[in-house]
Amino acid sequence: MSKSLNIFAVCISVMLFGLWGSVFGRDQDTASSEKKTEKELERALQWLVSQRGKDWGWGGLETTQALLAVSLTRTGDPLERELTTKQMEVNLVLQLWRHHETPALTPAKIAMYSLALSANCHDPRQFHGHDLIGSLLHHEAESDSEFALCSLAVCSSGAHVRKRQIRRLLDIANSKHTVDSLGGVVLALQCIVRDHRNRNLQHYLKKPILALAHLQQSDGGFGSLHSTALAIQALGDETEAWNRSSAVSWLLDHQGPDGAFFDVTTTSEVILALAHKGLGSVREIDCDESPVDVEAPSAAIIPHLNILPEAKPNTTLKANKTISSASDKQKKPTGVIVTPKTESETEKNEDVTVSYTLWVGSNVTENYTISITTPHNSTFYNVMQLAAEKDTHYVFSATEWPNGHYVHTLAGFKEQPMSYHYWLLYRLPSLPDPSNPPVNQLVAPTGVDDLIVEDGEHYLFWYKKL
Ligand SMILES: *[C@@H]1O[C@H](CO)[C@@H](O)[C@H](O)[C@H]1NC(C)=O
Ligand SMILES: *[C@@H]1O[C@H](CO)[C@@H](O)[C@H](O)[C@H]1NC(C)=O
Ligand SMILES: *[C@@H]1O[C@H](CO)[C@@H](O)[C@H](O)[C@H]1NC(C)=O
Ligand SMILES: *[C@@H]1O[C@H](CO)[C@@H](O)[C@H](O)[C@H]1NC(C)=O
Ligand SMILES: *[C@@H]1O[C@H](CO)[C@@H](O)[C@H](O)[C@H]1NC(C)=O
Ligand SMILES: *[C@@H]1O[C@H](CO)[C@@H](O)[C@H](O)[C@H]1NC(C)=O
Repeated sequence: MSKSLNIFAVCISVMLFGLWGSVFGRDQDTASSEKKTEKELERALQWLVSQRGKDWGWGGLETTQALLAVSLTRTGDPLERELTTKQMEVNLVLQLWRHHETPALTPAKIAMYSLALSANCHDPRQFHGHDLIGSLLHHEAESDSEFALCSLAVCSSGAHVRKRQIRRLLDIANSKHTVDSLGGVVLALQCIVRDHRNRNLQHYLKKPILALAHLQQSDGGFGSLHSTALAIQALGDETEAWNRSSAVSWLLDHQGPDGAFFDVTTTSEVILALAHKGLGSVREIDCDESPVDVEAPSAAIIPHLNILPEAKPNTTLKANKTISSASDKQKKPTGVIVTPKTESETEKNEDVTVSYTLWVGSNVTENYTISITTPHNSTFYNVMQLAAEKDTHYVFSATEWPNGHYVHTLAGFKEQPMSYHYWLLYRLPSLPDPSNPPVNQLVAPTGVDDLIVEDGEHYLFWYKKL
């Protein structure tokens, strides 16, 4: 009797509390802000779909990001997603086939392809005779965030992540304090602990999650659109130590009138954050026919998967990129490059001057050359930014990847993967001459963020058919 009365009383007070809450607007606020988020998410998805090409792709690597966004949110018809997956596969097959001509397939790119394949129940371990996951396990990424992305791709495919790799992830989790490295590592570890063999690692997640939560800024964001979307995906419901709704409002404040968040890649990342469907949910996808823990495949490891440049004893490489990569370097003996100082390097504040040329077309139908002077230790990316300020022909667009910027548009020309038109960067000993064009061996060995320019060098970005 008294028990049932008690229950009755509890029910009444719950009802009253609920009523009180909604009378005073709190529930309504939450409900209406959730409704607004849903509406804006819908607009972002519409914009994304409107950017899709006739071939069902978004062009190049952007297809992997966009496909992840539409697959994880179950946008459109399953047949449409399958057509996009096929288009992406064609792209990747072409890159594997023409590997010495197209821009290098880095571990980060392979990881994105693998995640997008897994999200659509295509096994990346059996990709037309290639084992993409095996390739990731064989070519360990250098930078922390790239390494985390690769580990996430391996785990999301259902493959076993090795002890050594888990150790490196834990090491990053304990020593790194940037949104990008923490966010990537948390997503990877969240996937790894879902495997019953790694349940005991669960408690190692607490520290990096809290560290990441504390990086939320007073405006609600985590720095950039990319970082904020990543942090939201990683933090999810894991902790009370952050404010999800203010992070979401921060994102929505940066939405364009057309529904986009800057470009295809960033919009796709934001969609995953707004939709509560982070990259971490790829592993949970239920693929009825594809068995999750299949036998070790017999597919080939990609032999030419191009990893970040080998450290040469006497070159200066990416010693001073960003705070995160500078600190990323410290832990890894293989990545530390001790540079014997040449005379010009010891002379501080000495500027360097390089020439920067643009050629358009295999037959060079347009050409521009500019001379840029920049402080010591500048990257070619810095040179590009200075050139774009000086001369509008040099205005460019680039996609930001964990391993740096990928330039896809310059002088108003956007790369056209379907017709093999790409922007290729050359580093040359003299000014380029169209009557004696440079050979492929002079293509710059690294990305624009990793090229430290030296006085008197000549750079050429050439838009050509491969
Ligand atoms: C979260 O931030 C919003 C402002 O965007 C604020 O109204 C709300 O009270 C915050 N929530 C918590 C739990 O701090
Ligand atoms: C190292 O520097 C020397 C002289 O500066 C040069 O001759 C040599 O080719 C360089 N080696 C490499 C691997 O870059
Ligand atoms: C990186 O370069 C900037 C100038 O571009 C300089 O101020 C800074 O001290 C450098 N940092 C390191 C770690 O070398
Ligand atoms: C250039 O970078 C090196 C390596 O990070 C650093 O030791 C040196 O001080 C930098 N020089 C300048 C002028 O920033
Ligand atoms: C480039 O020039 C060659 C001969 O000089 C010509 O055969 C070819 O059609 C030209 N290509 C383009 C794209 O204009
Ligand atoms: C560059 O283009 C100009 C026309 O804009 C042309 O007169 C000149 O010959 C070209 N230079 C080279 C090196 O092709």
